[in-house]
Amino acid sequence: FVHQLADESVGMDQLLVSPLRLEPAPSLPLPLELYGPQRANSAGLDLTVDSMRAPLLAALGQASAPHVAENSAQDVAAAMTRSLAAYPAWRATPVATRAAVLRRAADMMEARMPALCALLVKEARKTWGDCVSEVREAVDFLRYYANEAERIMQPVAMPGPTGETNELRLTPRGPWVCISPWNFPLAIFTGQVAAALATGNTVLAKPAEQTPAIALEAVALLHEAGVPKDALQCLHGPGETVGAALVAHPRVAGVVFTGSTQVAKIIQRALADKDGPIVPLIAETGGINAMLVDSTALPEQVTDAVVQSAFRSAGQRCSALRLLCVHEGIADGVIEMIQGAARELVTGDPALLSTDVGPVIDDEAFDGLQQQLQRLHGEARALLPPSPVTPGSHLIAPQAFEMNSIADVRREIFGPVLHIVRWRGDPQAVIDEVNALGYGLTLGIQTRIDSRADALATQAHIGNVYVNRNMIGAVVGVQPFGGEGLSGTGPKAGGPHYLYRFCAEQTLTINT
Ligand code: NAD
Ligand code: ALA
Repeated sequence: FVHQLADESVGMDQLLVSPLRLEPAPSLPLPLELYGPQRANSAGLDLTVDSMRAPLLAALGQASAPHVAENSAQDVAAAMTRSLAAYPAWRATPVATRAAVLRRAADMMEARMPALCALLVKEARKTWGDCVSEVREAVDFLRYYANEAERIMQPVAMPGPTGETNELRLTPRGPWVCISPWNFPLAIFTGQVAAALATGNTVLAKPAEQTPAIALEAVALLHEAGVPKDALQCLHGPGETVGAALVAHPRVAGVVFTGSTQVAKIIQRALADKDGPIVPLIAETGGINAMLVDSTALPEQVTDAVVQSAFRSAGQRCSALRLLCVHEGIADGVIEMIQGAARELVTGDPALLSTDVGPVIDDEAFDGLQQQLQRLHGEARALLPPSPVTPGSHLIAPQAFEMNSIADVRREIFGPVLHIVRWRGDPQAVIDEVNALGYGLTLGIQTRIDSRADALATQAHIGNVYVNRNMIGAVVGVQPFGGEGLSGTGPKAGGPHYLYRFCAEQTLTINT
């Protein structure tokens, strides 16, 4: 054991292996009405799959994802005219009133949890557990941004000489374009829209073409809660036409985008190439997310964290674990435990409560993943049985491959596919290689050496680092979420700096 640690460049002074106790940063209190990591909120509402089993299954019987008509690029100009007309009144609405509307929407969403979950199961093919977490996250976004807008949109008095007052205030910018992905079609859609509306902007939202019905439902609910119709409009259709036309419109005040790195760059170029003002872009994209496991880590804890992070949501999370880097001293045992745990997972119909791994989103995703798996079977060592191909099911059972090196993992594979690499020597060299991949979304560290966890996290160019736990499911107001490098621009969603980017700043100096 001591030899192994010496091999990992651990000095004798660091050999006090203990349950990890990093010095905690001072923390803000969690607003009570947020779910946070708890099962229930402060009102005692216990919204879990277990507590809602009967209403969830009843709602499934009634749910259907209606056909949603697509818009054309021509509809964008008319929508923008309406958005600009609605802007002065929404901007002039006091922030407390805007916040109250969002809180009302949160209450309504909470009350309609079973119906919203059922629609998510039908349209996005997510498991019940994922659907319940997603609705709770959407509710948290509404409440958190309502609170945050009230906090930050108060004018701040600045110092000044006698006879002069100086005030710094935040103002809205105008119509924002909100473009969201299919994998969190309610939570990310709602989060983007709520942030823009809370700060007094109007919104033109473009949900993913795979999941229009749940977006339509969220928009109807927000209108019912009191958001004026033209202050929030939804345009449906392909990103390449409707999305691109929205981004290209000369009166866009800002764009918030969540999706692939490739499309983020297309949007960034389109914004830079058009005439007129410099338009802010918030982009949250993907990652090749790694977990570093050293020889002091607890194999049971590692196994649980790996299985959750790599295979939950069928790996269709931007935060999901893609690359497990495990110290060679414990690699065989850890791999064996992961193999055992992965084989226990039930891959199947998301409408069944027993399903752990549901289908991937559509034919295109399924076909793309099959090609990636074929390539991996040719160039790496398969650690789990090949997934049977059932036509039309879009099901892929968890897959894992042992690779020779980190550099062999070249792109984000958006499905239940894990790469495993063994390492020895200096763990900082592993982090250097992970940094060199260029992404920076999530990182897991499994170690019982306190100083090592802190040093590796500091060295990593990565937005969200999780030590000795899984690395998915960032909680609004608790784990502000977002990456750097190829993974996005920041600021972090669900964090205290997010809303500033939706605002302009004005300094008002008055000679009294
Ligand atoms: P995508 O980039 O293909 O599409 C995202 C959205 O962009 C969709 O609404 C799409 O219609 C639109 N779009 C596509 N082309 C466009 C264009 N030229 N102009 C304007 N809009 C356009 O991504 P996806 O396949 O829907 O989602 C999966 C990706 O999203 C993965 O890479 C995943 O990692 C990432 N993601 C990131 C986060 C995060 O918070 N960082 C969260 C979820 C998903
Ligand atoms: N915010 C989501 C997570 O942390 C994507 O898993």
